[in-house]
Amino acid sequence: VIVVPKRVKEEEVDDGKKKVTVFFGTQTGTAEGFAKALVEEAKVRYEKAVFKVIDLDDYAADDDEYEEKLKKESLAFFFLATYGDGEPTDNAARFYKWFAEGDEKKEWLGKLQYGVFGLGNRQYEHFNKIAKVVDENLAEQGAKRLVPVGLGDDDQCIEDDFTAWKELVWPELDQLLRDEDDTTVATPYTAAVSEYRVVFHDKPDTSAEDQTYTNGHAVHDAQHPCRSNVAVKKELHTPESDRSCTHLEFDITNTGLSYETGDHVGVYCENLSEVVDEAERLVGIPPDTFFSVHTDNEDGTPLGGASLPPPFPPCTLRKALACYADVLSSPKKSALLALAAHATDPTEADRLKFLASPAGKDEYAQWIVLSQRSLLEVMEAFPSAKPPLGVFFAAVAPRLQPRYYSISSSPKMSPNRIHVTCALVYEKTPAGRVHKGVCSTWMKNAVPMTESQDCSWAPIYVRTSNFRLPSDPKVPVIMIGPGTGLAPFRGFLQERLALKEAGTELGSSIFFFGCRNRKVDFIYEDELNNFVETGALSELIVAFSREGPTKEYVQHKMNQKASDIWNLLSEGAYLYVCGDAKGMAKDVHRTLHTIVQEQGSLDSSKAEHYVKNLQMSGRYLRDVW
Ligand code: 2AM
Repeated sequence: VIVVPKRVKEEEVDDGKKKVTVFFGTQTGTAEGFAKALVEEAKVRYEKAVFKVIDLDDYAADDDEYEEKLKKESLAFFFLATYGDGEPTDNAARFYKWFAEGDEKKEWLGKLQYGVFGLGNRQYEHFNKIAKVVDENLAEQGAKRLVPVGLGDDDQCIEDDFTAWKELVWPELDQLLRDEDDTTVATPYTAAVSEYRVVFHDKPDTSAEDQTYTNGHAVHDAQHPCRSNVAVKKELHTPESDRSCTHLEFDITNTGLSYETGDHVGVYCENLSEVVDEAERLVGIPPDTFFSVHTDNEDGTPLGGASLPPPFPPCTLRKALACYADVLSSPKKSALLALAAHATDPTEADRLKFLASPAGKDEYAQWIVLSQRSLLEVMEAFPSAKPPLGVFFAAVAPRLQPRYYSISSSPKMSPNRIHVTCALVYEKTPAGRVHKGVCSTWMKNAVPMTESQDCSWAPIYVRTSNFRLPSDPKVPVIMIGPGTGLAPFRGFLQERLALKEAGTELGSSIFFFGCRNRKVDFIYEDELNNFVETGALSELIVAFSREGPTKEYVQHKMNQKASDIWNLLSEGAYLYVCGDAKGMAKDVHRTLHTIVQEQGSLDSSKAEHYVKNLQMSGRYLRDVW
């Protein structure tokens, strides 16, 4: 009898199997979830293949390694989200830069077969840009596209887009991964509801929780935010205003946090206590229940089945509902199915299943998406659906995400403070609920150090941006930022003022600001005037949209200043836009195009080329949301 060593045996078996790699570029976890869902289903369909799900950042340490490893792939899928101004997610940025922005030819991609699914939002200008670019690039380099690029639209129902795209994938994989003699018909697949293993604790052990925000951590990133106190809070609108805008300062003294002018701050806020009360009531488990969630079995082996988000530290249910559960967004279809699985009333279970089914598509769009029904409202409507905690936190309530703000200060002026300028989100939904933005409401209610020793704090971290002043201060700058789009420019102007005070010669600068009414929401008016008086800002131009008989917006003011803008651009000026992406930034972009065309006496395509060039050379930068 010949004994084959076990290891060798495994390798042999493994070698005979076809390998599929599924990459993801994710920010909030949706792309990762889809990648894992594809693999879960594929594993059931193609038992003989081997699947791997890989975070693009973890795949390779540098460009050479990306090349070396990708060369060995023969079948791959990419799930890629597009963010902000057509940007990749943080974890896909390095890959994207190398793959899509590098010049070298990658003929070796010829033997790769692939599919790309994008996650984006159609309301934005660069809808699914990252996925489209990667898909086209792969095809151009000779890789074989198995299915058309999937254009997931978060504005509608991205889960449906994913399901539809998957249906195109299976016939292709049937051909590639099934043996010719395999005539079995794939059984319809239903994803299992994700569920954590939950451990209940008698004695609260808060040590792990405290460690999460330990200050002095070597690096602070999304996974390691840093606890920072609220030092200052001010309302920026006058009492006449029917809206609210908060100026907040986080104290970063001795935290190890630092930032550059133009960076973003990610803030992990908590749900409002009235929201947590409501969530407690609907979950129906005592709020002081102390528990932990786990993604492995007791013996340490991973839990089988569907994908699970990373666990959070052990805590009380109240704390978990406050910090880790997004209960105000509309529930996904997968969440409805998880609720259905635990509804004791069969009528409720049926209705939930219907809403999540293809037949209930229109009703889901109407009753959930268009009505902006929150998870809490849906749970209220299905009172018999009380999932256990392991299901609730894994499959029903998504993780509460950090909110990002353009930092409105400069470390040259405020090295120990991170300033935020935040408009309050407060609106009535079509279903009649008053939606209070999670983070903006938290900021509005924050208790600063100036008012109490026991002040508010939040875990925060700094996210680097490429929204930077020109390295040569003599280069002119044009800034456009109505409303809270002003934020990074306040930082820019603080920086220019500090440079000026240090004796540096500055190029000219012009700032287009917009608000409704001088007496109501002309935020930081005195500071802006002071920037002009001190010469940090050459010209301040304000569009008031609700003072005169007609609306006046920043782009109208830009038109009036067309020749100045053109002259500055001809001198090499940098142009910056910050604020709302869906309306303002689009309109400003069009206006810029017109100005270039008219002032430069160019035809439309030459003007477009000019603006593209500005963008490519890093002289037209946008920080939009
Ligand atoms: P409105 O609210 O009166 O419409 C900051 O929010 C300022 O930006 C407000 O004065 C707002 O005007 C204005 N604004 C709204 N939509 C805009 C757009 N598409 N382009 C430029 N400014 C806009």
